Amino acid sequence: MSVKRTSIHGQWSSHWVFILAVTGSAVGLGNIWRFPYMVGESGGGAFVLLYVICVLLMGIPIMMAEILLGRRGRQSPVNTMRVLAEEEGLSRHWQLLGLMGMIAGFLILSYYSVIAGWTLAYIFRTGAGVFEGASADTTIKIFNELVSDPEKLLAWHTVFIVMCTVVVSRGVKSGLEQAVCYLMPALFALLLIMVGYAMSTDKFVEGLVYLFVPDFEKLAGNFREVFLNASGHAFFSLSLGMGAIMIYGSYLPDRASIFGTTMIIATADTVVALLASIAIFPIVFTYGLEPASGPSLIFITLPIAFGQMPGGAFFGTLFFFLVMIAAWTSGISLLEPAVTWLVENKGLTRIKATTVSGLVVWLLGICTILSFNHWAFSFNFFGLTKENGLFDIFDIITANFMLPIGGMLMAIFVGWRMARQSSRDELKVNEKIYRIWWFTIRYIAPAGVLLICLQAVGVL
Ligand code: TRP
Repeated sequence: MSVKRTSIHGQWSSHWVFILAVTGSAVGLGNIWRFPYMVGESGGGAFVLLYVICVLLMGIPIMMAEILLGRRGRQSPVNTMRVLAEEEGLSRHWQLLGLMGMIAGFLILSYYSVIAGWTLAYIFRTGAGVFEGASADTTIKIFNELVSDPEKLLAWHTVFIVMCTVVVSRGVKSGLEQAVCYLMPALFALLLIMVGYAMSTDKFVEGLVYLFVPDFEKLAGNFREVFLNASGHAFFSLSLGMGAIMIYGSYLPDRASIFGTTMIIATADTVVALLASIAIFPIVFTYGLEPASGPSLIFITLPIAFGQMPGGAFFGTLFFFLVMIAAWTSGISLLEPAVTWLVENKGLTRIKATTVSGLVVWLLGICTILSFNHWAFSFNFFGLTKENGLFDIFDIITANFMLPIGGMLMAIFVGWRMARQSSRDELKVNEKIYRIWWFTIRYIAPAGVLLICLQAVGVL
Protein backbone atom coordinates (compact mmCIF):
# COMPACT_ATOMS: atom_id res chain seq x y z
CA MET A 1 0.00 0.00 0.00
CA SER A 2 1.39 3.36 -0.88
CA VAL A 3 1.29 6.24 1.54
CA LYS A 4 1.16 9.83 0.34
CA ARG A 5 4.45 11.38 1.26
CA THR A 6 5.66 14.95 1.28
CA SER A 7 9.24 15.95 0.70
CA ILE A 8 11.13 17.47 3.62
CA HIS A 9 12.98 19.62 1.09
CA GLY A 10 9.93 21.49 -0.18
CA GLN A 11 7.67 21.53 -3.21
CA TRP A 12 7.41 23.51 -6.45
CA SER A 13 4.75 26.23 -6.35
CA SER A 14 3.01 24.78 -9.39
CA HIS A 15 3.56 22.32 -12.19
CA TRP A 16 4.66 25.23 -14.39
CA VAL A 17 7.57 25.84 -12.11
CA PHE A 18 8.40 22.17 -12.36
CA ILE A 19 8.36 22.40 -16.14
CA LEU A 20 10.67 25.38 -16.00
CA ALA A 21 12.99 23.73 -13.53
CA VAL A 22 13.28 20.49 -15.46
CA THR A 23 13.65 22.41 -18.70
CA GLY A 24 16.34 24.40 -16.92
CA SER A 25 18.06 21.16 -16.01
CA ALA A 26 17.68 19.66 -19.47
CA VAL A 27 18.60 22.73 -21.50
CA GLY A 28 22.21 23.54 -20.94
CA LEU A 29 25.65 23.04 -22.37
CA GLY A 30 24.35 19.73 -23.66
CA ASN A 31 22.17 21.52 -26.19
CA ILE A 32 24.37 24.40 -27.16
CA TRP A 33 27.87 23.01 -26.75
CA ARG A 34 27.69 19.19 -26.80
CA PHE A 35 24.94 18.55 -29.35
CA PRO A 36 26.56 20.54 -32.18
CA TYR A 37 29.98 19.02 -31.65
CA MET A 38 28.49 15.52 -31.54
CA VAL A 39 26.70 16.30 -34.81
CA GLY A 40 30.01 17.41 -36.28
CA GLU A 41 31.90 14.34 -35.07
CA SER A 42 29.20 12.05 -36.35
CA GLY A 43 28.87 13.61 -39.77
CA GLY A 44 25.51 15.42 -39.69
CA GLY A 45 21.94 14.40 -40.45
CA ALA A 46 22.21 10.73 -39.53
CA PHE A 47 23.10 11.73 -35.99
CA VAL A 48 20.17 14.12 -35.75
CA LEU A 49 17.80 11.43 -36.97
CA LEU A 50 19.11 8.77 -34.59
CA TYR A 51 19.05 11.28 -31.76
CA VAL A 52 15.38 12.06 -32.30
CA ILE A 53 14.57 8.34 -32.44
CA CYS A 54 16.44 7.78 -29.16
CA VAL A 55 14.55 10.63 -27.50
CA LEU A 56 11.22 9.18 -28.62
CA LEU A 57 11.89 5.54 -27.79
CA MET A 58 14.05 5.86 -24.70
CA GLY A 59 14.22 9.44 -23.49
CA ILE A 60 10.53 10.27 -23.12
CA PRO A 61 9.40 6.97 -21.55
CA ILE A 62 12.35 6.92 -19.16
CA MET A 63 11.79 10.53 -18.19
CA MET A 64 8.20 9.67 -17.30
CA ALA A 65 9.43 6.72 -15.25
CA GLU A 66 12.01 8.83 -13.45
CA ILE A 67 9.51 11.57 -12.54
CA LEU A 68 7.02 8.95 -11.42
CA LEU A 69 9.57 7.33 -9.11
CA GLY A 70 10.60 10.66 -7.68
CA ARG A 71 7.09 11.84 -6.97
CA ARG A 72 6.16 8.54 -5.34
CA GLY A 73 9.25 8.43 -3.17
CA ARG A 74 9.59 12.13 -2.36
CA GLN A 75 13.17 11.77 -1.07
CA SER A 76 16.71 11.75 -2.38
CA PRO A 77 17.14 9.16 -5.17
CA VAL A 78 18.93 6.73 -2.86
CA ASN A 79 16.13 6.78 -0.29
CA THR A 80 13.39 6.95 -2.89
CA MET A 81 14.63 3.75 -4.45
CA ARG A 82 15.00 2.07 -1.09
CA VAL A 83 11.55 3.01 0.13
CA LEU A 84 9.80 2.16 -3.10
CA ALA A 85 11.61 -1.18 -3.31
CA GLU A 86 10.53 -2.01 0.24
CA GLU A 87 7.00 -1.00 -0.53
CA GLU A 88 6.90 -3.32 -3.52
CA GLY A 89 8.53 -6.12 -1.55
CA LEU A 90 11.84 -5.94 -3.42
CA SER A 91 15.50 -5.90 -2.46
CA ARG A 92 16.97 -2.86 -0.73
CA HIS A 93 19.84 -3.05 -3.19
CA TRP A 94 17.77 -0.94 -5.55
CA GLN A 95 19.10 2.00 -3.59
CA LEU A 96 22.46 1.45 -5.27
CA LEU A 97 20.86 2.96 -8.34
CA GLY A 98 20.68 6.22 -6.43
CA LEU A 99 24.27 5.88 -5.36
CA MET A 100 25.50 5.33 -8.90
CA GLY A 101 23.53 8.41 -9.90
CA MET A 102 25.27 10.53 -7.30
CA ILE A 103 28.66 9.42 -8.54
CA ALA A 104 27.64 10.12 -12.13
CA GLY A 105 26.43 13.55 -11.06
CA PHE A 106 29.78 14.37 -9.47
CA LEU A 107 31.71 13.22 -12.50
CA ILE A 108 29.52 15.12 -14.95
CA LEU A 109 29.44 18.32 -12.96
CA SER A 110 33.22 18.19 -12.55
CA TYR A 111 33.79 18.64 -16.27
CA TYR A 112 30.56 20.50 -16.95
CA SER A 113 31.75 23.20 -14.64
CA VAL A 114 35.03 23.62 -16.50
CA ILE A 115 33.20 24.10 -19.79
CA ALA A 116 30.74 26.47 -18.11
CA GLY A 117 33.86 28.32 -17.03
CA TRP A 118 34.76 28.79 -20.70
CA THR A 119 31.41 30.45 -21.29
CA LEU A 120 32.05 32.74 -18.33
CA ALA A 121 35.41 33.69 -19.82
CA TYR A 122 33.75 34.31 -23.17
CA ILE A 123 31.20 36.70 -21.70
CA PHE A 124 34.10 39.01 -20.97
CA ARG A 125 36.00 38.34 -24.15
CA THR A 126 33.05 39.14 -26.39
CA GLY A 127 32.16 42.10 -24.20
CA ALA A 128 35.63 43.54 -24.60
CA GLY A 129 35.26 43.32 -28.37
CA VAL A 130 38.23 41.00 -28.96
CA PHE A 131 36.36 39.23 -31.71
CA GLU A 132 35.61 42.28 -33.82
CA GLY A 133 36.26 41.33 -37.42
CA ALA A 134 38.03 38.18 -36.25
CA SER A 135 38.90 35.45 -38.73
CA ALA A 136 38.70 31.75 -37.94
CA ASP A 137 42.43 31.75 -37.21
CA THR A 138 41.98 34.41 -34.58
CA THR A 139 39.11 32.70 -32.80
CA ILE A 140 41.03 29.43 -32.77
CA LYS A 141 44.04 31.20 -31.34
CA ILE A 142 42.01 32.89 -28.62
CA PHE A 143 40.40 29.59 -27.67
CA ASN A 144 43.73 27.78 -27.49
CA GLU A 145 45.19 30.51 -25.36
CA LEU A 146 42.38 30.04 -22.85
CA VAL A 147 42.49 26.27 -22.56
CA SER A 148 46.25 26.05 -22.41
CA ASP A 149 46.25 28.12 -19.24
CA PRO A 150 45.26 25.92 -16.27
CA GLU A 151 45.20 28.84 -13.87
CA LYS A 152 42.57 30.68 -15.83
CA LEU A 153 40.52 27.53 -16.22
CA LEU A 154 40.75 26.86 -12.51
CA ALA A 155 39.61 30.36 -11.67
CA TRP A 156 36.52 30.13 -13.87
CA HIS A 157 35.76 26.59 -12.74
CA THR A 158 35.87 27.80 -9.15
CA VAL A 159 33.50 30.67 -9.92
CA PHE A 160 31.01 28.31 -11.50
CA ILE A 161 31.11 25.78 -8.66
CA VAL A 162 30.54 28.58 -6.18
CA MET A 163 27.57 29.81 -8.23
CA CYS A 164 26.01 26.34 -8.17
CA THR A 165 26.59 25.77 -4.49
CA VAL A 166 25.09 29.12 -3.60
CA VAL A 167 21.84 28.33 -5.39
CA VAL A 168 21.62 24.76 -4.15
CA SER A 169 22.33 25.75 -0.57
CA ARG A 170 19.36 28.11 -0.60
CA GLY A 171 16.99 25.27 -1.39
CA VAL A 172 14.20 24.58 -3.77
CA LYS A 173 11.93 27.57 -3.47
CA SER A 174 14.19 30.52 -3.08
CA GLY A 175 17.09 29.08 -5.01
CA LEU A 176 16.10 26.95 -7.93
CA GLU A 177 12.79 28.45 -8.95
CA GLN A 178 13.85 31.98 -9.54
CA ALA A 179 16.83 31.19 -11.67
CA VAL A 180 14.75 29.66 -14.43
CA CYS A 181 11.64 31.75 -14.84
CA TYR A 182 12.95 34.61 -16.98
CA LEU A 183 16.25 33.50 -18.33
CA MET A 184 15.21 30.41 -20.25
CA PRO A 185 12.84 32.36 -22.54
CA ALA A 186 15.58 34.96 -23.07
CA LEU A 187 18.01 32.28 -24.21
CA PHE A 188 15.45 31.04 -26.66
CA ALA A 189 15.01 34.52 -28.12
CA LEU A 190 18.72 35.00 -28.51
CA LEU A 191 19.12 31.71 -30.29
CA LEU A 192 16.57 32.96 -32.80
CA ILE A 193 18.72 36.03 -33.41
CA MET A 194 21.72 33.77 -34.01
CA VAL A 195 19.71 31.73 -36.47
CA GLY A 196 18.85 35.02 -38.14
CA TYR A 197 22.53 35.73 -38.59
CA ALA A 198 23.13 32.23 -39.94
CA MET A 199 20.43 32.85 -42.55
CA SER A 200 22.43 35.78 -43.85
CA THR A 201 25.47 33.62 -44.61
CA ASP A 202 25.91 32.02 -48.05
CA LYS A 203 26.06 28.54 -46.66
CA PHE A 204 22.76 28.54 -44.75
CA VAL A 205 21.16 25.97 -47.02
CA GLU A 206 24.25 23.82 -46.96
CA GLY A 207 24.08 23.87 -43.18
CA LEU A 208 20.45 22.82 -43.19
CA VAL A 209 21.11 20.00 -45.63
CA TYR A 210 24.01 18.83 -43.49
CA LEU A 211 21.76 18.74 -40.43
CA PHE A 212 18.54 17.38 -41.81
CA VAL A 213 19.39 15.16 -44.77
CA PRO A 214 20.90 11.95 -43.44
CA ASP A 215 23.57 10.35 -45.56
CA PHE A 216 22.62 6.70 -45.16
CA GLU A 217 25.60 5.43 -47.06
CA LYS A 218 27.95 7.13 -44.65
CA LEU A 219 25.81 5.94 -41.74
CA ALA A 220 26.15 2.34 -42.81
CA GLY A 221 29.92 2.78 -42.58
CA ASN A 222 30.02 4.18 -39.06
CA PHE A 223 26.74 3.21 -37.48
CA ARG A 224 28.34 2.29 -34.18
CA GLU A 225 29.94 5.70 -33.55
CA VAL A 226 26.86 7.61 -34.59
CA PHE A 227 24.54 5.44 -32.54
CA LEU A 228 26.75 5.65 -29.46
CA ASN A 229 26.99 9.41 -29.72
CA ALA A 230 23.27 9.85 -30.32
CA SER A 231 22.01 7.51 -27.62
CA GLY A 232 24.43 8.73 -24.97
CA HIS A 233 23.58 12.29 -25.80
CA ALA A 234 19.84 11.65 -25.49
CA PHE A 235 20.36 10.69 -21.84
CA PHE A 236 22.77 13.52 -21.24
CA SER A 237 20.63 16.18 -22.81
CA LEU A 238 17.45 15.17 -21.01
CA SER A 239 19.38 14.85 -17.70
CA LEU A 240 18.23 11.24 -17.39
CA GLY A 241 19.48 8.25 -15.53
CA MET A 242 21.24 9.80 -12.53
CA GLY A 243 18.43 11.01 -10.31
CA ALA A 244 18.34 14.69 -11.25
CA ILE A 245 14.89 14.32 -12.75
CA MET A 246 13.91 12.00 -9.92
CA ILE A 247 14.73 14.57 -7.26
CA TYR A 248 12.95 17.31 -9.22
CA GLY A 249 9.99 14.93 -9.58
CA SER A 250 9.97 14.56 -5.82
CA TYR A 251 9.00 18.24 -5.51
CA LEU A 252 6.17 17.93 -8.04
CA PRO A 253 2.62 18.50 -6.78
CA ASP A 254 0.42 15.39 -6.86
CA ARG A 255 -2.07 16.58 -9.42
CA ALA A 256 0.34 17.58 -12.18
CA SER A 257 0.35 15.45 -15.35
CA ILE A 258 3.62 13.63 -15.82
CA PHE A 259 2.97 12.85 -19.46
CA GLY A 260 2.09 16.39 -20.45
CA THR A 261 5.06 17.93 -18.68
CA THR A 262 7.47 15.39 -20.13
CA MET A 263 6.33 16.13 -23.67
CA ILE A 264 6.80 19.86 -23.20
CA ILE A 265 10.26 19.42 -21.71
CA ALA A 266 11.50 16.98 -24.33
CA THR A 267 10.24 19.20 -27.14
CA ALA A 268 11.82 22.34 -25.72
CA ASP A 269 15.11 20.54 -25.20
CA THR A 270 15.22 19.23 -28.75
CA VAL A 271 14.21 22.53 -30.31
CA VAL A 272 16.99 24.39 -28.48
CA ALA A 273 19.61 21.87 -29.61
CA LEU A 274 18.41 22.15 -33.21
CA LEU A 275 18.34 25.94 -33.14
CA ALA A 276 21.88 26.02 -31.81
CA SER A 277 23.02 23.73 -34.62
CA ILE A 278 21.18 25.72 -37.26
CA ALA A 279 23.03 28.77 -36.00
CA ILE A 280 26.43 27.07 -35.98
CA PHE A 281 26.84 24.91 -39.07
CA PRO A 282 26.31 27.61 -41.70
CA ILE A 283 29.20 29.47 -40.03
CA VAL A 284 31.31 26.32 -40.01
CA PHE A 285 30.86 25.96 -43.76
CA THR A 286 31.12 29.63 -44.61
CA TYR A 287 34.51 29.91 -42.92
CA GLY A 288 35.83 26.53 -43.96
CA LEU A 289 36.06 25.26 -40.39
CA GLU A 290 36.22 21.63 -39.42
CA PRO A 291 32.79 20.30 -38.26
CA ALA A 292 34.56 17.61 -36.23
CA SER A 293 36.62 20.00 -34.16
CA GLY A 294 35.20 18.64 -30.90
CA PRO A 295 34.54 20.57 -27.68
CA SER A 296 35.95 23.80 -29.10
CA LEU A 297 33.31 24.00 -31.86
CA ILE A 298 30.97 26.66 -30.51
CA PHE A 299 33.82 28.68 -29.07
CA ILE A 300 35.51 29.05 -32.42
CA THR A 301 32.46 29.41 -34.66
CA LEU A 302 30.07 31.72 -32.87
CA PRO A 303 32.65 34.42 -32.07
CA ILE A 304 33.21 34.80 -35.81
CA ALA A 305 29.53 35.60 -36.18
CA PHE A 306 29.67 38.06 -33.30
CA GLY A 307 32.69 39.68 -34.89
CA GLN A 308 30.81 40.23 -38.15
CA MET A 309 27.28 41.17 -37.23
CA PRO A 310 26.15 44.65 -36.23
CA GLY A 311 25.99 44.93 -32.45
CA GLY A 312 28.04 41.74 -32.23
CA ALA A 313 29.80 42.60 -29.00
CA PHE A 314 26.45 43.19 -27.33
CA PHE A 315 24.74 40.10 -28.70
CA GLY A 316 27.83 37.99 -28.06
CA THR A 317 28.03 39.01 -24.45
CA LEU A 318 24.34 38.40 -23.99
CA PHE A 319 24.59 35.04 -25.70
CA PHE A 320 27.40 33.68 -23.55
CA PHE A 321 25.69 35.12 -20.52
CA LEU A 322 22.54 33.18 -21.30
CA VAL A 323 24.48 30.00 -22.04
CA MET A 324 26.09 30.44 -18.66
CA ILE A 325 22.63 30.72 -17.07
CA ALA A 326 21.49 27.61 -18.91
CA ALA A 327 24.57 25.79 -17.63
CA TRP A 328 23.90 27.08 -14.14
CA THR A 329 20.33 25.76 -14.01
CA SER A 330 21.69 22.40 -15.22
CA GLY A 331 24.63 22.36 -12.84
CA ILE A 332 22.42 22.75 -9.79
CA SER A 333 20.39 19.71 -10.80
CA LEU A 334 23.57 17.63 -10.94
CA LEU A 335 24.31 18.53 -7.34
CA GLU A 336 20.83 18.27 -5.87
CA PRO A 337 20.57 14.43 -5.53
CA ALA A 338 23.77 14.18 -3.51
CA VAL A 339 22.89 17.16 -1.35
CA THR A 340 19.47 15.81 -0.43
CA TRP A 341 21.02 12.46 0.43
CA LEU A 342 23.59 14.07 2.73
CA VAL A 343 20.82 16.00 4.45
CA GLU A 344 18.59 12.95 4.89
CA ASN A 345 21.16 10.34 5.84
CA LYS A 346 24.10 12.16 7.31
CA GLY A 347 22.16 14.80 9.18
CA LEU A 348 24.07 17.68 7.59
CA THR A 349 22.44 21.06 7.14
CA ARG A 350 21.71 21.96 3.56
CA ILE A 351 24.55 24.46 3.52
CA LYS A 352 27.11 21.98 4.84
CA ALA A 353 25.91 19.27 2.50
CA THR A 354 26.26 21.61 -0.46
CA THR A 355 29.71 22.72 0.59
CA VAL A 356 30.98 19.16 0.92
CA SER A 357 29.57 18.09 -2.45
CA GLY A 358 30.84 21.26 -4.09
CA LEU A 359 34.34 20.61 -2.81
CA VAL A 360 34.39 17.05 -4.14
CA VAL A 361 33.29 18.24 -7.55
CA TRP A 362 35.74 21.12 -7.53
CA LEU A 363 38.64 18.76 -6.86
CA LEU A 364 37.53 16.33 -9.54
CA GLY A 365 37.29 19.22 -11.98
CA ILE A 366 41.03 19.67 -11.85
CA CYS A 367 41.36 16.47 -13.89
CA THR A 368 39.39 18.09 -16.68
CA ILE A 369 41.31 21.33 -16.46
CA LEU A 370 44.56 19.50 -16.97
CA SER A 371 43.10 17.38 -19.77
CA PHE A 372 43.31 20.41 -22.03
CA ASN A 373 46.95 21.15 -21.34
CA HIS A 374 49.50 19.33 -19.16
CA TRP A 375 47.72 15.98 -19.02
CA ALA A 376 46.34 15.98 -22.55
CA PHE A 377 46.54 12.64 -24.31
CA SER A 378 44.59 11.17 -27.15
CA PHE A 379 42.99 7.80 -27.61
CA ASN A 380 40.72 6.11 -30.01
CA PHE A 381 37.08 5.43 -29.13
CA PHE A 382 35.65 3.24 -31.86
CA GLY A 383 37.03 5.20 -34.73
CA LEU A 384 36.66 8.59 -33.05
CA THR A 385 39.87 10.26 -32.00
CA LYS A 386 39.48 11.75 -28.55
CA GLU A 387 42.16 14.25 -27.72
CA ASN A 388 41.45 15.34 -24.21
CA GLY A 389 42.31 12.39 -22.02
CA LEU A 390 40.47 12.29 -18.72
CA PHE A 391 37.83 14.77 -19.80
CA ASP A 392 36.80 12.48 -22.65
CA ILE A 393 36.99 9.44 -20.39
CA PHE A 394 34.68 11.01 -17.78
CA ASP A 395 32.35 12.03 -20.57
CA ILE A 396 32.25 8.57 -22.13
CA ILE A 397 31.89 6.69 -18.82
CA THR A 398 28.96 8.85 -17.79
CA ALA A 399 27.09 9.49 -21.03
CA ASN A 400 27.68 6.10 -22.63
CA PHE A 401 27.52 3.85 -19.59
CA MET A 402 26.32 5.26 -16.28
CA LEU A 403 23.35 7.29 -17.54
CA PRO A 404 22.00 4.63 -19.93
CA ILE A 405 22.44 1.90 -17.32
CA GLY A 406 20.78 4.08 -14.67
CA GLY A 407 17.93 4.73 -17.09
CA MET A 408 17.62 1.05 -17.91
CA LEU A 409 17.44 0.08 -14.24
CA MET A 410 14.69 2.65 -13.71
CA ALA A 411 12.83 1.25 -16.70
CA ILE A 412 13.18 -2.27 -15.34
CA PHE A 413 12.06 -1.21 -11.88
CA VAL A 414 8.98 0.55 -13.12
CA GLY A 415 8.17 -1.81 -15.97
CA TRP A 416 8.91 -5.18 -14.42
CA ARG A 417 9.23 -4.94 -10.65
CA MET A 418 6.70 -2.35 -9.55
CA ALA A 419 3.02 -3.26 -9.41
CA ARG A 420 1.31 -2.08 -12.57
CA GLN A 421 -1.33 -0.38 -10.50
CA SER A 422 1.31 1.82 -8.89
CA SER A 423 2.53 3.30 -12.17
CA ARG A 424 -1.03 3.61 -13.41
CA ASP A 425 -2.02 5.55 -10.29
CA GLU A 426 0.92 7.84 -10.61
CA LEU A 427 0.70 8.59 -14.34
CA LYS A 428 -3.09 8.92 -14.58
CA VAL A 429 -3.09 9.06 -18.37
CA ASN A 430 -5.68 7.67 -20.71
CA GLU A 431 -5.49 3.98 -21.40
CA LYS A 432 -4.05 4.24 -24.90
CA ILE A 433 -1.09 6.37 -23.86
CA TYR A 434 -0.55 4.19 -20.83
CA ARG A 435 -0.37 1.07 -22.97
CA ILE A 436 2.13 2.61 -25.38
CA TRP A 437 4.26 3.82 -22.48
CA TRP A 438 4.01 0.47 -20.72
CA PHE A 439 5.20 -1.41 -23.78
CA THR A 440 8.07 1.02 -24.41
CA ILE A 441 9.28 1.06 -20.84
CA ARG A 442 9.17 -2.75 -20.55
CA TYR A 443 10.67 -3.75 -23.84
CA ILE A 444 11.97 -1.00 -26.09
CA ALA A 445 13.87 1.18 -23.63
CA PRO A 446 15.76 -1.63 -21.84
CA ALA A 447 16.55 -3.32 -25.14
CA GLY A 448 17.82 -0.01 -26.52
CA VAL A 449 20.18 0.47 -23.60
CA LEU A 450 21.42 -3.09 -23.88
CA LEU A 451 22.21 -2.35 -27.50
CA ILE A 452 24.14 0.78 -26.48
CA CYS A 453 26.22 -1.10 -23.93
CA LEU A 454 26.98 -4.02 -26.22
CA GLN A 455 28.00 -1.61 -28.95
CA ALA A 456 30.08 0.41 -26.53
CA VAL A 457 32.10 -2.55 -25.32
CA GLY A 458 32.48 -3.77 -28.87
CA VAL A 459 30.40 -6.96 -28.71
CA LEU A 460 28.12 -5.86 -31.54
N1 TRP B 1 21.06 18.09 -19.47
C1 TRP B 1 22.04 19.08 -19.16
C2 TRP B 1 22.54 19.66 -20.46
O1 TRP B 1 22.13 19.23 -21.50
C3 TRP B 1 23.15 18.55 -18.31
C4 TRP B 1 22.63 17.85 -17.12
C5 TRP B 1 21.98 18.38 -16.06
C6 TRP B 1 22.66 16.48 -16.90
N2 TRP B 1 21.62 17.40 -15.20
C7 TRP B 1 22.03 16.23 -15.69
C8 TRP B 1 23.19 15.45 -17.64
C9 TRP B 1 21.90 14.95 -15.22
C10 TRP B 1 23.05 14.17 -17.16
C11 TRP B 1 22.40 13.93 -15.97
O2 TRP B 1 23.36 20.54 -20.46
